[in-house]
Amino acid sequence: MSTEPINIKSAQTEFDLHPLITGRWSPRAFSAKEPSRHQILKLLEAARWAPSSFNEQPWRFIVGVKSRGEEYQKILECINDFNKEWADQAPVLMLVCAKKAFTHNDKPNRHYKYDCGAAMSTLSLQAMADNLYVHQMAGINPDKAIELFKVPETFEVLTGVAIGYLGAPDQLSEKNQKAETARRQRKELSQLAFSESWGNSFS
Ligand SMILES: Cc1cc2nc3c(=O)[nH]c(=O)nc-3n(C[C@H](O)[C@H](O)[C@H](O)COP(=O)(O)O)c2cc1C
Repeated sequence: MSTEPINIKSAQTEFDLHPLITGRWSPRAFSAKEPSRHQILKLLEAARWAPSSFNEQPWRFIVGVKSRGEEYQKILECINDFNKEWADQAPVLMLVCAKKAFTHNDKPNRHYKYDCGAAMSTLSLQAMADNLYVHQMAGINPDKAIELFKVPETFEVLTGVAIGYLGAPDQLSEKNQKAETARRQRKELSQLAFSESWGNSFS
């Protein structure tokens, strides 16, 4: 019998997956230790190499580092209160923005959000490989971001992102400590993958 301690946050998978996938999760408690500029650029480089429809690469990132002050505080202003209560511990904050139309023909790009999600996936997995954690946030105020960062109309502000090394749950409010130490949940694979007809599970 294994004597390895069970990591409550590690994904309980039906198949043996790569530890970068099983180990990734979205924490609220971040250490004050700041990733280096080189490290942050490395994560952005991982996003840069994500696939995208027509290779449009619609993603743009606004990056703030806590010790550098102003940009970070401006991003924090764009984050809703229920996220701010933990996100202000993260040493790096970002806003993800996306170009809504294709550059080659100016037609609407139906997949710009999909592509930005792909870029955040590669960024998140590279972060795991470097012992960093990523927590994405829908709970932001895009209009505030447009105002503070003069985001052009041709772009949409999609999400906020908190990045840093893992902190300790006791840094958090009681409510957030609960979420921080809860087991991660997923739907069953049979509910997600179909064959023959919709709802007929691929198994
Ligand atoms: C696009 C997107 C938006 C999210 N928005 C928020 C948010 O506003 N606040 C929050 O605490 N978590 C947010 N999350 C994190 C999810 O709640 C989290 O990924 C999900 O519960 C699964 O947990 P895991 O990432 O630890 O596996 C968001 C994640 C994504 C991908």
